[in-house]
Amino acid sequence: MQPLLKKFRMPSNGLTDSPEWKALQKDACGASAIRTRALFEQDPERFNKFHIALDGLLFDYSKHPVTAEIMTHLIALARAAELESWRDKMFAGVQINTTEDRAVLHTALRHSAPEGLEVDGENVAGFISNTHEQMRRYSESIRREGLIHDVVVIGIGGPNLGPTLVYEALSGPAGAPRVHFVSNIDGTHITQTLEPLSPDHTLFIISSKTFKTLETLENAQTAKSWLDDFKPGLSREHMAAVTANREDAEAFGIAPAQIFPLREWIGGRYSLWSAVGLPIAIAHGFDQFEALLEGARTIDTHFQTAPLDRNIPVIMALLGLWHRNFRACTAHAILPYAQKLSRLPAYIQQVDMESNGKNTDRDGIRVDYETGPVIFGGPGTDAQHAFFQLLHQGTDIIPSDFILVARPNHGLDSHHRQLLASALAQTQALMEGRTSEPANDAPHRRFEGNRPVSTLILEQLDAYHLGMLLALYEHKIFVQGILWRLNSFDQWGVELGKTLAQDILHQLNPGVVPTRENPPAPDPSTQNLATYLFKSFINS
Ligand code: F6P
Repeated sequence: MQPLLKKFRMPSNGLTDSPEWKALQKDACGASAIRTRALFEQDPERFNKFHIALDGLLFDYSKHPVTAEIMTHLIALARAAELESWRDKMFAGVQINTTEDRAVLHTALRHSAPEGLEVDGENVAGFISNTHEQMRRYSESIRREGLIHDVVVIGIGGPNLGPTLVYEALSGPAGAPRVHFVSNIDGTHITQTLEPLSPDHTLFIISSKTFKTLETLENAQTAKSWLDDFKPGLSREHMAAVTANREDAEAFGIAPAQIFPLREWIGGRYSLWSAVGLPIAIAHGFDQFEALLEGARTIDTHFQTAPLDRNIPVIMALLGLWHRNFRACTAHAILPYAQKLSRLPAYIQQVDMESNGKNTDRDGIRVDYETGPVIFGGPGTDAQHAFFQLLHQGTDIIPSDFILVARPNHGLDSHHRQLLASALAQTQALMEGRTSEPANDAPHRRFEGNRPVSTLILEQLDAYHLGMLLALYEHKIFVQGILWRLNSFDQWGVELGKTLAQDILHQLNPGVVPTRENPPAPDPSTQNLATYLFKSFINS
């Protein structure tokens, strides 16, 4: 019987057979009986043991229903995965993105690369300092000359989400250019953005690593016409690009001096630290951009040097893996209690889901365990009145990260005290719950509690601490990718939709007859929907 079973078993990469995984499976058998409240009663030092403070950032994970023993077993899993060796490979510029044959060196952008490192014959540090110098000079000249009042950044995915978040999170000097972001190919986005702007005071930055992304090219073309219709040739002066594809940017008409380079070793969703950060330098000042890099560098050093059991991104990753693989949690909530961090969930959603939303390991084997969870979230306190009901009483257990800022960036102290009190009250309620109430013990009024909660506190919302926060999540995602044996740096899952959209585009062009080159939509549903849209389109 045994050999027959073996014969039909799915091929496995061996992770779930490892002794470290099995130890955790054993822990999981008793995990539903672990109550966080009881863990605090057993160990009055729990908070001290389960939090880490680092340079104005505090990470508390004492509100997770995990024991010290589970944490030890998780660390053993990380060691068995050779996490430290993989981490060192990434920082050293080894081609760990094997499906695209690329090094992964966004950390080098914040000066965390080894001295003398070369990629494709180019000195990495030299490339970075030249690019930074180009960014500094350009951003300072824009601010000095005062001709540009509005900057419109055209880009989608990485080049959009990071700069939008940082632009909104920080403040610049009065009178600095305003920045707008256009990402969606829905014409409403660019139309509404351009409506109040004046072409002779507007600069466009086309931010695209490949300079081939459909949405970005369509919006860039509309922007170019908008400028040139106002004054022929204006687009030459009022358009810049950030790209690894200089050739196409020049062919599009961008002046060579206004092209800011990217390299293949900078992934789109990890590109905030590169020239993709140009709008931040223009609006908030190059010094703020540098402070952002400095904060990220502090986390790079921490990630590289702190022991695994005192290493914030490692612990964040291990807790996430525990809940995902051993507690069947399918989602993870990001809850910034700061209006200026409203975009944080969307930013982390891309970095996490595009990196670890994969079912095939780095050796091409279909995994037999769960990988990246659904990442969602929203700013507190608004989120409390939207989806917190499910966090407290839903049938799924959803671990959450509460992100708080200790010092307000406004003078309304009463608001800030209430904001912080609300955040702490929610973390307490999620952990403690409320199982009975003397006056009314109705089942619908019961809260089970025991929900896993991390709390991250930033001393203040400045560029340095924001850089720290974002780098923490990047490294957390890296660690999970290593433990799940994924290549976190490719995104083949996005490609299919892009190709099919091109095919269907032909269907929506009036007068196009399906041929071998212009194939009909492959399935009857899509075909009929395309026909319906086509009819509505030409009849409108
Ligand atoms: O969404 C897929 C993706 O490739 C992202 O990884 C990237 O951030 C985005 O498209 C934009 O790509 P590009 O910078 O080449 O325009």
